[in-house]
This record gives sequence, C-alpha cells and structure tokens, in this order.
Amino acid sequence: MMLWRNRKYAGGDLSDSDHDLSISRVSQPRRRTNCKSKPLFILHLALQGCLRGSNVAYGITADTGGHIRYLLDLAAACARDPEVGRIVLATRRFRGAFGPDYAVPHERVGGKVEIVRLASASPDYLPKEDMAGQVESYTGALVEWIAAQETPPDLIHAHYADAASVAGRVRDRLGIPFVFTAHSLGRVKAAMGMAACPSLPRRIAAEEGALRRASLVIASSRDEAEVQYAGYTAYDPGRVRVLPPGSDLARFSGAPTSPRVDASINRFLADPHKPALLALARPVARKNLVALVRAYGESPTLQARANLVLAAGTRADIDDLDGDMAATMREILVAIDRYDLYGRVAYPKTHEPGDAPAIYAYARERGGVFVNPALNEPFGLTLLEASSAGLPLVATDSGGPNDIVETCGNGILVDPRSPSAIAAACLRLLTEPAFYAACVAGGARAAACYDWGRHATLYGGLLRDLRASVPPPGRPRQLLICDIDNTLVGCEAGLRAFRRWRSRQAGLAFGVATGRSFHSAMAILEQQDSPRPQVIIGSVGSEIYHLDANGVTYTADAAWQAEVGRGWERSAITDLLAGLDGLVPQSPLEQRAYKLSYFGDGRAAAKVRARLDSVGLAASVIHSHGRYLDVLPVGASKGTAVDHVRSLYGLHDRDVFVAGDSGNDIEMLRARRQSIIVANFSDDLASLSGLAHSYVARASHARGVIEGVAHFRRSAALVDHAG
Ligand code: GLC
Ligand code: MG
Repeated sequence: MMLWRNRKYAGGDLSDSDHDLSISRVSQPRRRTNCKSKPLFILHLALQGCLRGSNVAYGITADTGGHIRYLLDLAAACARDPEVGRIVLATRRFRGAFGPDYAVPHERVGGKVEIVRLASASPDYLPKEDMAGQVESYTGALVEWIAAQETPPDLIHAHYADAASVAGRVRDRLGIPFVFTAHSLGRVKAAMGMAACPSLPRRIAAEEGALRRASLVIASSRDEAEVQYAGYTAYDPGRVRVLPPGSDLARFSGAPTSPRVDASINRFLADPHKPALLALARPVARKNLVALVRAYGESPTLQARANLVLAAGTRADIDDLDGDMAATMREILVAIDRYDLYGRVAYPKTHEPGDAPAIYAYARERGGVFVNPALNEPFGLTLLEASSAGLPLVATDSGGPNDIVETCGNGILVDPRSPSAIAAACLRLLTEPAFYAACVAGGARAAACYDWGRHATLYGGLLRDLRASVPPPGRPRQLLICDIDNTLVGCEAGLRAFRRWRSRQAGLAFGVATGRSFHSAMAILEQQDSPRPQVIIGSVGSEIYHLDANGVTYTADAAWQAEVGRGWERSAITDLLAGLDGLVPQSPLEQRAYKLSYFGDGRAAAKVRARLDSVGLAASVIHSHGRYLDVLPVGASKGTAVDHVRSLYGLHDRDVFVAGDSGNDIEMLRARRQSIIVANFSDDLASLSGLAHSYVARASHARGVIEGVAHFRRSAALVDHAG
C-alpha cells in the first residue's frame, strides 16, 4: 500500500533506471537576463509585527514571527546579487510599549538594505486583525515616499494580504507592478476551524484581490500553490511560482550526540542499540503520531528490527497540556499499552529547545529512520533538519514533503492514514542498505536545495524577467511538444545540447506535454534549467497553460478546460474505483480536477476499464511505466491537447513535432504524423502498430528529440525538392 511516488531516488524499484538520472542533481540556477541591465530596486511591504534589522524579538506579538525572518533572510540573500541595487523594507511606524525602535523612520540594515517606517492613521501598534483601517492612510504615505525617491522601485513585493491591498492601490496610482506572498492564508485558517474569527472574511477578500491583481504570486511549496490557493476564485496556477525558502540547517549536519539526551531516551529501552524510528513533533492530532505507534505495534518484524522514539514535546503534567495535546498524549499511551510495547518505545518527558540536533544524532548513530506521519504537513522543516543530520525519511504524502522528497531523493512518501504503508516503508529502509545510503546521500543535499542563495537567484531572475517583459516570439512557423520525464529531461548533457539547439530555432515554438501538474512541471524544468516553454500541457493533457506576454507567468486555457470538463463525472468515478483491488491512489497532490491518478499494474488497469464500462461511465484509462494509472475525461489526452494548441497557433499538422518515451505519450505520438520516440523508450512503444509511422531516434532523451526534428525536416525538404 505504499506510494512510491517520487521517481528520482527510487532506483531499483522502477522499470527504467533512467528515472534516477533525471533528477540526480539540482543544478545551480543560471541568470537568464544580461548583466548590464539597470540594477533592480525592490520595495518590500510588510505592515505587521515588530520589524527591525537585528535582534528581532520573535514572539513579542503574535504577528512577529516567521514572515519577518523570511523577509530579512530574503533581503540579505538578494543583497548579495550584484544585479540588485537597492532593497527597502517598508513597514508601519508605531510608538509604545515594545520600545522606541519601531518609531524610527529610517534604519539601515546593510549596504543595500534599509527599513523605512511610515506613519499611518493610528500611531499605535496594531495586530493584523485591525490593520484594515490603516490601508488608505498608509498608501498615501507610501506614494509620497516613492515620489521623494530619485527613482521609483521597479517592483513592490507585498507580504500578507493588507500589504497587498496597499500594493494594489499603489499600482493603480503609479503603475508599479507587485508580487505577492501570502505567508499564510485566510481560507486555510477558516478550514482549520477558525471561521469564527471576525476579521477572517475581510482577510480572505483582500487575498482574493491580491491574487487577482498581483503580477506574480510566490508560494513555498507545491501544496500551497496547488491545494491551499485552489479555494480562491481568482486563483490561476500559472501566476503562482513555487520558490522554497532557505533554511538554517548548519547546526544539524554532523550534529554530535549528547549523553544527557541519549540517557533520556535509553532509560525506556530494553535494547538501546537497535535502530530508532524517530518522530519529533508536538502531540497534536494533526501530527498523527498514534498512526506511527499503530504501525509499529502491528508489525512484529519492525519491533524486532527497531525501537520507536517519540520526541513528542515537553510536559510537566499531561492534564495541563493545551488544546488537543492532552487527549493525543493519552491516546499514544493507551496504544503503547494496547500493543504492549514496553521496553521498545521511548517517549521522553522533556527535552530542551536546543536538543533537536542531538535527538536526530541519536537516531543517526543507530542507523535509524525519521518518520513524519502528519495528516498534513504544510512545509516540513523537521524533514530538512533530519536529512541534514543524516537520516532517511518516511514522510506523509500530504503537503510540503512531496517537494522535499522529490527534490532531494531522501526517503519515501506514504499515505499517513495507512499504518501498514508506514511500516512497510520503514522496513524497506531498514532492510535495503543501498537504498538507505542513497536516501542519506540525497538528504545531504537538503541544505543546498533549501538555500536562500538559490532562492534569491531564481527570485532575482523572475523579477528581472518581469521587468524586461520580453514577450514570447510572434506567430511560430513550427511547433515542438516534448514529454518531460525521460524525454526532455533525464540526461543533463542532452538537455544542455537541447538548450543550445533551441536558442537557434527562431520560428519554432517549444512546449511540453507531461503527466505532471503545472507546478510539478515548473519545478523540474527550473531545477534542470530547461528553456521556458511557451505552452505547458499538464496533467496528461487535461490542462493547458500559455506563457503570458510578460514572458514569465502563464494563464490557464479556459476554453480547453471547458471542453475537457464536458461529461466528466469525477466524484462518481472516484467512488466507483474506491477500494478496487490492486489500485492505490497516488498522493492527494496528483489528483486534479480532470485527472484521477493511481498506482496499479496492467491487471488493475483492465479491471478499472471493465468497471467503468459496466456502469457506462465514460473516461479514458492511461497506463504508463507499468505502474502509473491515470483516469481522464475522454476528450483529454496529450494528443488532443497538442491538436488544440496547433489550431490556436494556426499551424498545419506537418508543422508539428511531438516527442515522448512512454505509455502516457502513446496517444499523442499516434495522433501526430511527425512523432519522435526517444531511444530510451519504455512500454514497448517502438513495437506498437499504431506508432509504426514514428521516428525511433538512435539517441536518448533530449538528443533524440533534436535528432528526430532534424529527420522530419530533412524528409520534408526532400519531398519539397521532389515536388
Ligand atoms: C506523472 C504524474 C502522475 C501520473 C504519471 C503518468 O508522474 O505526476 O500523476 O500518473 O505522470 O501519467
Ligand atoms: Mg516520460
């Protein structure tokens, strides 16, 4: 029941090991625009909390938290970018009990970074819930301040909804575009049961406005970009870009153990030398620690192999714990007793705030595994910490861990509601030393992948491209659409050759067609530094995104959406297929409005088709790599989507090239006359009768694509010549 979702680390598990190559290394992003352009002036806008340049008093108010850390780290990283000239952090000026610093109009933070505090209607500190009344007056002060500068900012970056309300007004008055980062979303809070909070509807409305008007929205994870934002009316995935924040992981890598911490764990254990399955999380229901106890309790093999260590917060008396912590802690203790796990489970009563590195080190020294079974984990900082400390992961497939495991190849994603999946994943890591080592090695990349320097390079590139606003070239004469995994991507040298080749192809529009969602596609394309596609056909053809005139963001093709949606009975199909033998749903992130995705073999695919037929539900079932199984509206496929794009571009069939490697490309390769199968194909592509017209390249991956296009161009030239 395990979800072997991510493909880059899974090594021996996959039929074609090329998958590993595809994402083996995160290449350092390159700057796209030329260095001689005018340095950027970025104005950040953050109205909340107590912002100052150093010694931030985190926690001094409820709004003095993560977003300030994010802002200061981002500014420091951007300041190292030679193409950034000036960074101003504009916040509110207020007087009062928190000290005089926040009433100082100007504070220099570093060479390029300044904090500017502007007065608004109220002279006092205000929590975010009361910020609405300040928006008008603050806008006035900001417009005045901008007018007094030698040059106006190139861009405003608004943090939180109220700042976005100000930024929207400034855009109306001065025409300065803005970027938006929500940090946390009102709709998500509402869904978590905070709907009673009276300022929430206003906040959600402000967020709607921000989404409608921002030139670019920056999210930290795919979950945020694809799930959390999806509830908003103004949501358009193509305008959201995922840029993971940096993290401060230095104190975790190679962290030493601590005799005190070791003793606090070992006093529970009959054999303290065994590997430890470690969880480190507060005992709240969402963290789902009970499922881990259950997974362990129900697997005698796992108990024989490893101890379970639950670093579940700190408590003096369980009865005094806040919120749902007391109940959760009791549930954990009851489960330990039920499975009679005494001598095998440690649940130290307290640990100090600085102990986390030593706790990870305890597990690392024993060849252990870090487990995060949360029902949803918005980002997953502990996963990065554990990876840096040298532990492989078993992590929930809901939320941020998808990105982390996909980026680093440092563990296994599981359905957190399935104790057997959790146990199987832990056992796999404990019994396959080569796989264990590969995940540890992948984890060592975490610090490099979640690094502010990397973030700043990508961020600076996006802002410069937005400013330059180079529109995609005019009407193309030809169109090339490539599958991503194992076609465009999979061989770094091949992709490099493709990039060079592509830069010489004026008149050729380039797009991708993939099983991935928009953000999953963007993540890998950006990681591999692929040329930016003019069109992205995502989710196996059920979604199409076109590059905007600014050359940076994308807009979903609404006409295509309407067309594929016709006759699609998503919930009826989900219900019908629930629990079908041999069929395991892929992670929640892979389930799209017009694509339901599972894992299953050929037999499962046949069963799915039969069951759909038996009740007369129309859908197409696409099977690839022997294990991915997608159910889509009948009209949605990579092939039909390519045809839609072809006709939008006003091209003939003979002007279109498509390239692919596996099952979910068959339809597209069959439908087009100039279709290319790269040499590293799977799913028997080259022997399928429907694909006899395809060109099977001698070269693999992107080189095979170049070879194929050249082949068809040559043939066309011969025909022209003969004619
Ligand atoms: C990609 C998608 C997955 C799909 C597969 C095959 O891997 O992420 O959901 O099943 O392609 O189309
Ligand atoms: Mg492929």
